[in-house]
Amino acid sequence: MCGIVGYIGKKDAVQVLVDGLKKLEYRGYDSAGIAVYGGKNENKRNTCTGNNIVVVKCKGRLDSLQEKIKNSIIRGNMGIGHTRWATHGEPNDVNSHPHVSHSSKIAVVHNGIIENYTELKEFLESEGFEFVSDTDTEVIANLIEYFYKYYHKEEITNAVVNSLKLLEGTYALGIMCEDFPDRFIVARKGSPLVIGLGENENFAASDIPAILAHTRNTYILDDDEVALIKQDQVIVYDGFGNEVKKEVFKVDWDITATEKSGYEHFMIKEICEEPEALRNIINSRIKDGEIVAGDLSIIENEAARVNKIFIVACGTAYHAGLVGKQVIETLAKIPVEISIASEFRYQDPIISPGDLVIVISQSGETIYTLFALREAKRAGARVLSIVNTVGSSIARESDNVLYTLAEPEIAIASTKAYNNQLAALYIVALAFAMKRRTVNDRAALEIMEEIKRIPELVAEVLNHREEVQKFAARHYNSKSVFFIGRGLDYALSVEGSLKLKEISYIHSEAYAGGELKHGTIALIEEGTLVVACVTQNYLKDKIMSNIKEVKARGTLVLAVTQSRFTCEVSRTADIVITIPDMNQLLVPMVAITPLQLLAYYFAVQKGCDVDKPRNLAKSVTVE
Ligand code: G6P
Repeated sequence: MCGIVGYIGKKDAVQVLVDGLKKLEYRGYDSAGIAVYGGKNENKRNTCTGNNIVVVKCKGRLDSLQEKIKNSIIRGNMGIGHTRWATHGEPNDVNSHPHVSHSSKIAVVHNGIIENYTELKEFLESEGFEFVSDTDTEVIANLIEYFYKYYHKEEITNAVVNSLKLLEGTYALGIMCEDFPDRFIVARKGSPLVIGLGENENFAASDIPAILAHTRNTYILDDDEVALIKQDQVIVYDGFGNEVKKEVFKVDWDITATEKSGYEHFMIKEICEEPEALRNIINSRIKDGEIVAGDLSIIENEAARVNKIFIVACGTAYHAGLVGKQVIETLAKIPVEISIASEFRYQDPIISPGDLVIVISQSGETIYTLFALREAKRAGARVLSIVNTVGSSIARESDNVLYTLAEPEIAIASTKAYNNQLAALYIVALAFAMKRRTVNDRAALEIMEEIKRIPELVAEVLNHREEVQKFAARHYNSKSVFFIGRGLDYALSVEGSLKLKEISYIHSEAYAGGELKHGTIALIEEGTLVVACVTQNYLKDKIMSNIKEVKARGTLVLAVTQSRFTCEVSRTADIVITIPDMNQLLVPMVAITPLQLLAYYFAVQKGCDVDKPRNLAKSVTVE
């Protein structure tokens, strides 16, 4: 939800900011803008500006901003930038960030939501401040100016710290003041912010990919911290204004993970990376017939004492949790409750100190999941997080972190991160089962061996991706697609359906096979496409009956099934996509891949913007 960047050094700030914003577009892309400290503005036609800070911003993608920059005079060696996902005020030029204060002294970029902005705005208006936008951010710029003018003309940082004390809500902020050409300020509460440490230059950004081309040395800002960033110095303060000594966090990502590397879209690149990503997590956690969990005290020391598990997550991560619940209950025999994170804290969940809460998040920054984690800790539960982004808020606040090791995921639609979240959940389930002796050593060994095969099984599915592509070429015009499955296949269907609707905009619903006839079957008509997942032997006859029910109403059925059921399934289904034979408990890690490919090829055929679907953002950091 919005991306911010900042730069100070000797380079052309415009280029550094725009390049950084390109890496953050996944966070929002309805408008963008930059503010650069650059001497007198010689051309005011396309800019709004103070004397020294020049701002160029506009509605639309970064391309539109770049076009506008070409026609403006904006240059300098320090600046801040923003790519927006609108919360307050429609996407238009005026509501785009950066926002400047009443006298244009202060420029601000913001990710988050200020909940008490109306009160603050009223107060500032009564003090003579005028507003031009509908945003909550403009209030921050004016509030800083208010403190700066009236109390702290000598140092902008004090004005920022005083302003922050009045803000309710969440923010990651980048702030520049016209009187200080040698510094910009960043602050964080609830929205991510990382500082990149260079040689005679420093950076700030919402996420690491934006600075990775320049430096791998970073400070990860904590909530309530404020940093003063100069070319050769970064000073971090806590919420009380005391200086904080930060540890340098070294990023070891492969930079190609943030490039398309010849693929048409990040999404297909990331689907094709699934075998490698799975290998990363599986090989690091399963070695010599053992689960490696020395760093996870919850598994190592507390597994036997856990009475109940809560799984909490959003979106695709929640769908991984649906699989996780069934797998943990099957293997470890621990009751599992699963909740959507945005509902969890308002449900007044009955958590006891002996309970374990597993939170799942690719970004590690989803605000609902973070709040759920805090709620769980308040209630005395232990928290194990399954997270992809190293050093993220959720990772840092959890008791234990099991990193999914999928490397950065750039496409908005999550693919490889989901497969790895599943792998993590299987590893947790099996580790608990072994500690609690709910599976015997032989069975555990067999499951581990089977898990080790998963990367190559996914690779096999990918080798046959033209089948899915051909199917998509014929049926991408479907108006509505229903996904059905039972047991683990139902959990799989829910994720397959989400993938399709989010990137192809085709209406889609997922139903437990038996539930469809309790109402929704009324929507099924001649020619409707139904995708049926048929991978569970013990449920096969049941789901086959459900397929017959929809076939009887004239639907077209695409079935995803294990090789050994192909003959039988193809007698009823119109088209069958086969995955290799395998242990049915582990199927979701492999069977999701054809569903992801289906969504991808439908979206490509429809000419959709696959990596940046409308209205979505990859990291949801506002409530
Ligand atoms: C957004 C993204 C989804 C993601 C969900 C949870 O809605 O578009 O792809 O699954 O957030 O994100 P997280 O980073 O917590 O896994």
